Amino acid sequence: MALTVALIGSGAIGSRIAELLDAGTAPGVRLAGVIPHGDAGTGFSFADALEVADVVVECAGVAAVSEFGPPTIRSGKDLLVTSIGALCDPSLRSALLDEGPGRTFLTTGALGGLDAITAAGAGGTIHRITLETRKLPAALVQPWMDGETTEGLLAATRPVELLRGGPAELMRAFPKSTNVVSALALAAGNWEVVEAVLIADPGAHRTSHHVVAETSLGTFDFRVTNEASPGNPASSALVPHAVVRGLKSLANASGSFI
Ligand SMILES: NC(=O)c1ccc[n+]([C@@H]2O[C@H](COP(=O)([O-])OP(=O)(O)OC[C@H]3O[C@@H](n4cnc5c(N)ncnc54)[C@H](O)[C@@H]3O)[C@@H](O)[C@H]2O)c1
Repeated sequence: MALTVALIGSGAIGSRIAELLDAGTAPGVRLAGVIPHGDAGTGFSFADALEVADVVVECAGVAAVSEFGPPTIRSGKDLLVTSIGALCDPSLRSALLDEGPGRTFLTTGALGGLDAITAAGAGGTIHRITLETRKLPAALVQPWMDGETTEGLLAATRPVELLRGGPAELMRAFPKSTNVVSALALAAGNWEVVEAVLIADPGAHRTSHHVVAETSLGTFDFRVTNEASPGNPASSALVPHAVVRGLKSLANASGSFI
C-alpha cells in the first residue's frame, strides 16, 4: 500500500518535493495534497491531511512546525520536519520527540555525516562539535540590524565573523540559519557540545558547512558545499532530495542504511 504524504509549504523545497513525487521518483509514495498558506484555497486543508495522510511533511518554516507539528503527532500521524531549527525550543522538541502516538522524523537536509555522529553519540562520548558556516552577506541580513550594519555587511569585501555560539544564540540572532546546528545537536543528543561560527563571506557563492566532531570513537571532519536551490538562494538544492529519500525509506524499507 502506498505511503500517503501531505505537504505544508510550496516554496523552493516544497514545490520541488511535489514535482519529484508527481514524477514517480519515489515508488510507493503518493502525494495527497499541499496545505495552503493562509487563505490560498487549494481545496486541501490540514484537517484533510490528518484524515488521509500517513506522513505530514513540513517545509514551511519554524512557525509552521510549532503550529502543525504537535497536532499531527497527537493525531497519530507521522511528521517529517525540514525546519529542524524549530527544535531549538525545548518544549516543542519534547512535544515532537517524546510524545506520540505519531512519530517525528528529521530530514538530513543540507548536511551529511549525521549518521556517524549519531552512532558515536550512542556508543561513545561526543566531546565537541564545531560548525563553520559561510554564506553570502545578503543571505544574513536580519530585521534587527540597523541601516549602518546592513550596509557594512553588504559592502564587505572580506569574510566577516557575525556570530560564535551555540544553537540558542544562533536562534536568537539568525533564526533562519539554525537547521544545520540543530541537526548536529540532535545527532549528538546534546545541545551543549555544538559551537557554531557564522561567517558572511562575499566569496561564498555556494553555502558551505565545515563540521568537526571530536568523539571518543573518532574525529569526523567534513565539509559540505551546497548548490543553492533555484527557487531560494538561502536554501540548498539538496534538501528536497533528502526529504524524498527519507520518504522512500519510510515507504519501502530496503534493508540499507546508505
Ligand atoms: N534541514 C535543512 O538542512 C534545511 C535546509 C534548507 C531549508 N530548510 C527549511 O526548509 C523550509 C522551507 O524552505 P524553502 O526554501 O522552501 O522556503 P520558501 O520561503 O521558498 O517557502 C516556504 C513556503 O512555506 C509556506 N508557508 C509558510 N508558512 C506556512 C503555513 N503556516 N502554512 C502553509 N504554508 C506556509 C510559504 O508560503 C512558502 O510557500 C525553511 O523553513 C528552511 O528553514 C531546511
